[in-house]
Amino acid sequence: MKRGDSVTLVARRRDRLERIAGEASDRAHVIEADLANPEAACAWVEAAEEAMGPIDVLVNNAGVQIVESATETKWEAAEKLLVLDLHTPLRLTQIVLRKMIPRRSGTIVDIASMAAIGPTPGMFFYNAAKAGLAAASEGLRAEMKPHGIHVVTVYPGPVTSDMEAAARTAYEVTAAARHAPIGSPDVLARLVADAVANKRARVIYPRFYALSRHFPNLTRWAIDTLTPRLKALGP
Ligand SMILES: NC(=O)c1ccc[n+]([C@@H]2O[C@H](COP(=O)([O-])OP(=O)(O)OC[C@H]3O[C@@H](n4cnc5c(N)ncnc54)[C@H](OP(=O)(O)O)[C@@H]3O)[C@@H](O)[C@H]2O)c1
Repeated sequence: MKRGDSVTLVARRRDRLERIAGEASDRAHVIEADLANPEAACAWVEAAEEAMGPIDVLVNNAGVQIVESATETKWEAAEKLLVLDLHTPLRLTQIVLRKMIPRRSGTIVDIASMAAIGPTPGMFFYNAAKAGLAAASEGLRAEMKPHGIHVVTVYPGPVTSDMEAAARTAYEVTAAARHAPIGSPDVLARLVADAVANKRARVIYPRFYALSRHFPNLTRWAIDTLTPRLKALGP
């Protein structure tokens, strides 16, 4: 929005969306929708295009995280996560691509996670969803290139947000956890916007975590060794 684009914002809490939209109300459209509800997850696309014109950039950002022992998570919550973090982005991508291909332009942005590169103990369902989204996203790029469509896969490590704060409180506090680099959402947003503008394949942020892609065995060892225990597991 800060770069002058028109934006449709989709989430459940309308008041928050309207606050953001207020920064440029002539270029922002708000839609309240529960993207974890398969009936509602894609129904907003038509209304968005009627209001703002064809979607040039789809950002699959909405997500939830469950940080809990794999066996404790209620299946209903797990299923909701899998719908929101994996099924909905794939369905929306398919719907929007069918409209982008005849226009021979467009960009899909998938907000995956470092959990896709380095799955983290305590995030059983989230690891699966984000790895699935990242794999789909990486494979789609070359498939869509002949159609003039670009795909950006984003791998955030810890970045300040409600989700990050909640995850932090679920783990015991250790020296390694205290010193892990944490990013800023404003910087990440700028990097993603630059990647769209300059057709970069992926964004890994904070930069420190980019090492993980090049050293998968070391990453696996570090995550298994350094991830703190879940508090809920007790002493
Ligand atoms: N922060 C991190 O450290 C981090 C790291 C790696 C990846 N990520 C990914 O980055 C993305 C954004 O996360 P965040 O850190 O900004 O988390 P957040 O602070 O919890 O925000 C989550 C966003 O998703 C929306 N959302 C959640 N459930 C929804 C639903 N059922 N329907 C529609 N919208 C829904 C929320 O809006 P409403 O609640 O109003 O619906 C909110 O806008 C997620 O995909 C997350 O997995 C974040």
